[in-house]
Amino acid sequence: MADKTASLKLPDGKSLDFPVLSGSTGPDVVDIRPLYSKTGYFTYDPGFLSTASCTSAITYIDGDQGVLLYRGYPIEQLAVHCDFLEVCYLLLNGELPNKTQKKEFVDIVTHHTMVHEQLARLYQGFRRDAHPMAVMVGVVGALSAFYHDALDINNPQHRTISAFRLIAKMPTIVAMSYKYSIGQPFMYPKNDLSYTANFMRMMFAVPAEEYKPNDVLVRAMDRIFILHADHEQNASTSTVRLSGSSGANPYACIAAGIACLWGPAHGGANEACLEMLEEIGDVSKVPEFIKKVKDKSSHVRLMGFGHRVYKNHDPRAKLMRETCHEVLNELGLHNDRLFKLAIELERIALEDDYFVTRKLYPNVDFYSGIVQRALGIPVAMFTCIFSLARTVGWIAQWQEMISDPEYKIGRPRQLYKGPTKREVKPLDKR
Ligand code: CMC
Repeated sequence: MADKTASLKLPDGKSLDFPVLSGSTGPDVVDIRPLYSKTGYFTYDPGFLSTASCTSAITYIDGDQGVLLYRGYPIEQLAVHCDFLEVCYLLLNGELPNKTQKKEFVDIVTHHTMVHEQLARLYQGFRRDAHPMAVMVGVVGALSAFYHDALDINNPQHRTISAFRLIAKMPTIVAMSYKYSIGQPFMYPKNDLSYTANFMRMMFAVPAEEYKPNDVLVRAMDRIFILHADHEQNASTSTVRLSGSSGANPYACIAAGIACLWGPAHGGANEACLEMLEEIGDVSKVPEFIKKVKDKSSHVRLMGFGHRVYKNHDPRAKLMRETCHEVLNELGLHNDRLFKLAIELERIALEDDYFVTRKLYPNVDFYSGIVQRALGIPVAMFTCIFSLARTVGWIAQWQEMISDPEYKIGRPRQLYKGPTKREVKPLDKR
């Protein structure tokens, strides 16, 4: 029995008490599960602004304080002390690995990086100029055709194998989507490289030449992966949970997450941000652009600014900003036109009353697009990289949901405003 209750007074004057549940940190929640059965009312919360859809022990965000914790560890510490696979282990298992656990984990992931040759042939069915996220939705969804019959999602071991496969194969699949789009041969994974160096090699190497990974650039990409690994119950994660709640194949559920992530209000933001910088074109055009953003009738948004949850600062943005400087220094790109433009846009927006009063700050994607562009990643691939990184979060959340004794198929209700019951007239009488 909960210590606290919240009362709801109904229009007929009756009032009802609901238990208030407390998490380990963060706002309490009013448990309204019996609301409909006891009162006949639903709650109305489009966009889930005030709704906790599940219990989770994976990621915690305090948007007002700019805090992001994976399994209790601050993102600022994870980004500095861990690599991406350690973070994957943490998200999946709840604890950071020791040396032996890490070695074993890296070994398993490394030995699952190849994809079935038949999957490689699937790419030929796509147009070369298809958006790589469209290809990703198709190819990751197709993994379910390779791993379905023998998969029992109620078996924890089967779920773990699915997690390993997805984490291991995503870099290969993302890199293949890129290689296909530019007409170059697929590069097979190389097991003596780290997870991230291997990904960069599969992206940028050609069979005709040796490829030497650059440590600074590999570290930058690894940080992009860490910062995007999980983010609580965001739109794509909720999509994965909702699709998974019917008991669907996990690879198909991850494909659903990829589809959701593609949108410019979510993972597509860094791509949209770079397109916006290209459109502005020059530092001298920044004031004019800001004016357009502030004019609501223009429907123009400052991409890479604002966040549904972070209303103070996005802690990932600060880390990405640091990485951005490191990468531009390493490559001697500090005078890059778009980078200078981004810095000026950031400066003006941070001083402008419109953005300050609405608590709109740069988010992680404002800088991650600039970093990825400097690394040589084409703009259309940005969201694919995000989906690679977020796969571990999606699969950890899916695992948590399936093993939760309170899990039910997701089935929201609605406030119906359509026609009430009416009679169908035969065609000649309409
Ligand atoms: N540029 C200009 N105005 C904005 C922006 C923006 N980027 N974001 C919000 N606003 C305004 C909005 O017009 C509204 O103004 P008013 O109160 O006068 O009507 C106010 O700020 C509140 O906006 P909202 O749309 O109610 O806020 P939200 O929490 O629903 O939206 C958001 C969050 C991320 C969708 C939005 O800020 C946005 O569209 N940002 C640009 C896209 C972007 O960078 N997305 C990446 C998010 S980080 C990556 C991830 O985690 O997926």
